[in-house]
Amino acid sequence: MPETDQRKTAAPDVRNRLAIALDVDDLVEAIRIAKDVRPWFGVAKVGLELFTAAGSDAVVELQRVGYRVFLDLKFHDIPTTVRKAARVVGAVGANYLTLHASGGTTMLRAGVEGLAEGAANAGLEPPTALAVTVLTSEETAPDAVLTNRMKHAMEAGCGGIVCAATDLAHAKQIAPRLTTVVPGIRPPHGDNHDQARASTPDAALQAGADLLVVGRAVTSAPDRVAAAAELLGSLNLERRAGSGDALSSSR
Ligand code: C5P
Repeated sequence: MPETDQRKTAAPDVRNRLAIALDVDDLVEAIRIAKDVRPWFGVAKVGLELFTAAGSDAVVELQRVGYRVFLDLKFHDIPTTVRKAARVVGAVGANYLTLHASGGTTMLRAGVEGLAEGAANAGLEPPTALAVTVLTSEETAPDAVLTNRMKHAMEAGCGGIVCAATDLAHAKQIAPRLTTVVPGIRPPHGDNHDQARASTPDAALQAGADLLVVGRAVTSAPDRVAAAAELLGSLNLERRAGSGDALSSSR
């Protein structure tokens, strides 16, 4: 692992509020990144690219490195298919799974139940079901759409939602008990890539985010260790260290 600036690493409970998005198509490379940035991140996010390349081996290998694993597979299908696929995710031992809230309450509930069934069969804790509200790459999230999707998530028994930092105030009003996961995290004046509603880590935390998803701001940097230290070392981590309990208690 490259040399780390120890003054700027994150405390273990803070790391569980920081997810690194491993958006690469090779498990060896993903593990290399995961090891490099472990001093800041406690959650590894496996998206469509890595999961398509490596499947459930990605979950096992990242857990071996000490991460909680977030499968960002954004399920959206008929309820039976979602239930059966979620059962597999529950049995594999992932910690989080995303489903599209636009799939509606019945589909989301099938996912929540599938996760619980799969986990019970394997003797594991059920992963937290996260409902994706409106993608952060979309310019706008009309309040009515957001409200409707959050209601689906609550009625279905999801443990949390994924939303943009700009949606957090509204989300906390409608669903204060849901864990909020916020992608589109960038340094001040950083490249937003295809994210239309980006936020700095500090702004997202101040707005009430429980889990921040950080991808290219770190993984595409020429020196990702330095980028992680700079991006996350600027957080007032000590002050916020106690506020991540929602994550450990959520489903
Ligand atoms: O590189 P970047 O920080 O933009 O990565 C964001 C990650 O979060 C990507 O893996 C993307 O798929 C995911 N994501 C998102 N917006 C959502 C849900 C997930 O950007 N609403």
